[in-house]
Amino acid sequence: MFDPDRYDNRMPYRRCGDSGLLLPALSLGFWHNFGRNDDFQEARRIMHRAFDRGVTHFDLANNYGPPPGSAEENVGRILVEDFICHRDELVISTKAGHDMWGGPYGEWGSRKHLLASLDQSLKRLRLSYVDIFYSHRPDPETRLEETMAALASAVHSGKALYVGLSKYPLKRLKKAVRILKDMGIRCLIYQPPYSLLNRWPESAGILDWLQEEGLGCAAFSPLAQGLLTAKYLDGIPDGSRAARAEGFLQPEQVTTHQEKIRTLNELAMAHGMPLHHLALQWALRSPAVTTAIIGARSVAQLDDSLDALRAAPLSESLLAVIDSIAPPADFEKDTDA
Ligand SMILES: NC(=O)c1ccc[n+]([C@@H]2O[C@H](COP(=O)([O-])OP(=O)(O)OC[C@H]3O[C@@H](n4cnc5c(N)ncnc54)[C@H](OP(=O)(O)O)[C@@H]3O)[C@@H](O)[C@H]2O)c1
Repeated sequence: MFDPDRYDNRMPYRRCGDSGLLLPALSLGFWHNFGRNDDFQEARRIMHRAFDRGVTHFDLANNYGPPPGSAEENVGRILVEDFICHRDELVISTKAGHDMWGGPYGEWGSRKHLLASLDQSLKRLRLSYVDIFYSHRPDPETRLEETMAALASAVHSGKALYVGLSKYPLKRLKKAVRILKDMGIRCLIYQPPYSLLNRWPESAGILDWLQEEGLGCAAFSPLAQGLLTAKYLDGIPDGSRAARAEGFLQPEQVTTHQEKIRTLNELAMAHGMPLHHLALQWALRSPAVTTAIIGARSVAQLDDSLDALRAAPLSESLLAVIDSIAPPADFEKDTDA
């Protein structure tokens, strides 16, 4: 059913920090395009094509949809119908922490929310365990010890093999990783936004620290939700994420970045590659980045993005020009915002 040659070096696998786990250079995320309102058969074709092209890591969260939970439901159905013999070839992650259900326990970082949410995710995904369970965002009100103890419980109960943290600022990230370590749990991976339009993890010193500590990094939205493709060069096309009511990309973000996107596009064209290949090669140039998690609305988009892996690495001189167009922002090194 799947391409028997899928592990023939078409996909590079990178070690996740100093752990035993390898992840594909490009992973597939299900934030958009896999909910109840999306085309289920196209979603299934995207997952199949991804796996055929060596993508072994699928990234989810409790609230992906819309409605929240429906991406996990759809993926659960595809997993059980099509991937049942391949479970051990897949790394499936999910997260808890953003708005999920009503009342005081439906979000943030309490033990109550995290462990109930993980049980719900496993039911929707029709799995007995996930490979990585993330705290999706830092909770300013809950003691880090409580959130980290919930992650440790997920591992001890066998419901997660590894744990990760997403969007924690550096100071809190360091503390969280230390607390986990004291509980005998190694944080596997950190998940930040990272793209040519958002160099925050680099300028905040996070990428350097992850490397020093031997933690992996899953860079999300490396195409800045589609801004780093040719689609927004002349405005907002119908059907794009910025045009859709349920899309997370705001039209103002298109306006803000349009000049920079056009300049980057000209640079990419001058070097014989499409903008999205330049953007993905750029995100993967950092040795701190284990994998970049892309999104795709169609098989064609997925193929287009995975083809970036065939491009040569960006030269030092090209990286210097990119820096002059899209410099790292001047962030405080140790902000705990
Ligand atoms: N931890 C967190 O808080 C967090 C937050 C956000 C995302 N994530 C993870 O990261 C994953 C990826 O995020 P993302 O979807 O924003 O990633 P992305 O790769 O930056 O953007 C994907 C979108 O770009 C457009 N696109 C992709 N390839 C294209 C192509 N070849 N030509 C034209 N347009 C193309 C499509 O949007 P259109 O619909 O406009 O076609 C597609 O849905 C998510 O699914 C999730 O797993 C995590």
